[in-house]
Amino acid sequence: MGRFFLAPCLVLLAVLLLGSGADAQQVIGGSVTVVQGDTAILPCKLRLTDTTEDLTQITWQKRTREKPSNDNFITVGPSQEPRFVRGRDDRFKYIGNFNDKNGTLQLSNVALKDEGSYTCIFTLFPGGTKKTEIPLKVTVPPFTNVKDNLPTLGTEEVLFATCTAAGSRPPAEVRWLTGDLEKKVRTTTNSIQYDNGTTTTVSSLFGVPTSEINGHQVQCVISGDFLTKEISLPFTIQVYFSPTEVNIRLISEDTFECVAAANPRAKYNWSRSDQPLLESAVKVDGAKLQLLSLTSGLNGLYRCEASNAHGSKHSQLYVHVAGTCSAAWTFFGLLVSVNAIGAAVWCFSKSGYFKKRHHLVSKDSKNGTNSQREILREKLTAVESRNG
Ligand SMILES: *[C@@H]1O[C@H](CO)[C@@H](O)[C@H](O)[C@H]1NC(C)=O
Ligand SMILES: *[C@@H]1O[C@H](CO)[C@@H](O)[C@H](O)[C@H]1NC(C)=O
Ligand SMILES: *[C@@H]1O[C@H](CO)[C@@H](O)[C@H](O)[C@H]1NC(C)=O
Repeated sequence: MGRFFLAPCLVLLAVLLLGSGADAQQVIGGSVTVVQGDTAILPCKLRLTDTTEDLTQITWQKRTREKPSNDNFITVGPSQEPRFVRGRDDRFKYIGNFNDKNGTLQLSNVALKDEGSYTCIFTLFPGGTKKTEIPLKVTVPPFTNVKDNLPTLGTEEVLFATCTAAGSRPPAEVRWLTGDLEKKVRTTTNSIQYDNGTTTTVSSLFGVPTSEINGHQVQCVISGDFLTKEISLPFTIQVYFSPTEVNIRLISEDTFECVAAANPRAKYNWSRSDQPLLESAVKVDGAKLQLLSLTSGLNGLYRCEASNAHGSKHSQLYVHVAGTCSAAWTFFGLLVSVNAIGAAVWCFSKSGYFKKRHHLVSKDSKNGTNSQREILREKLTAVESRNG
């Protein structure tokens, strides 16, 4: 009997408070933000559990990007078994408790299309309905990367690199931290918004590709509501250039090394201009050329080419073993194995041919002129070379 008297009062109360969130005050809900692919809990609970009214049904409605009309999609009765109204979607699971007037729903593997508003409705007898609306926001973290534009040495401003935060929701903020370089570089930022609500933001870093700027470290910082903390991507500005000077230097008594500044590092190739390198007489190991035996067969022009993806340059070395010394060579075999060049020089001086002198001639390979310069050395300690 009491119910019938109470009912008009409740209806009146509901009408009076309508528009001031009366339902929301009676139903515990909330707003939910979830990362795409994660699981969302849509909370819903009738606050007045001590009500004498009977709960007859819990209904869920949704209005999403995919389907903008507010439609019922799940109903739950006293049996606690949820019923899908328009097509099953097993990602939704009723995890509440009907007797407890808890309508909580779980949605797993959330997609962008699920974003929208979810309404949880309690149908009470005889009081009517109580509901709350739960906005569901879906965030998408971006794919991030820094792409080197491979600038080569120059005097005009060029693009150094681009930093991209692709497909995020909400849009990402992308910026460069350039420290000391602040006055020497410039940045621009652009973004594109896609139909599905994601945005790709690209920030570009420009500057003059000088050798001073080469090797400086900067950072691209990406931030947004989809992240609990910023993403920081370090980037080293690299200015690429082909081998500049190629120098051939003597690094031990019988070994020469070819050295060239280049970015990326140069690869070296030793060759002889008139004939192939004799495997038995010389040993090549990367930038190094080792003379294994000092015979006149080694005499000639050697060429070291330094190259990388941006170009190549070479330098030449003229090796001249004065006279033949085969008799003495055999004689001083033991010494030779210890100190080949020193022994050879000594051998020459003993036989009176050469007065402790050894010829090393470097040749300018740039313009092909044979401007040979002779360098006479007491002992073989250094070799000069010219750029090619
Ligand atoms: C409703 O049910 C959910 C899922 O079982 C639970 O996490 C939540 O605490 C319940 N709400 C209340 C207010 O009891
Ligand atoms: C959104 O659309 C863009 C462009 O069509 C696509 O590359 C991206 O993968 C989409 N993102 C999602 C989460 O569907
Ligand atoms: C090294 O240089 C020689 C002569 O220029 C050339 O024939 C050879 O192919 C080069 N080798 C490599 C590995 O580049």
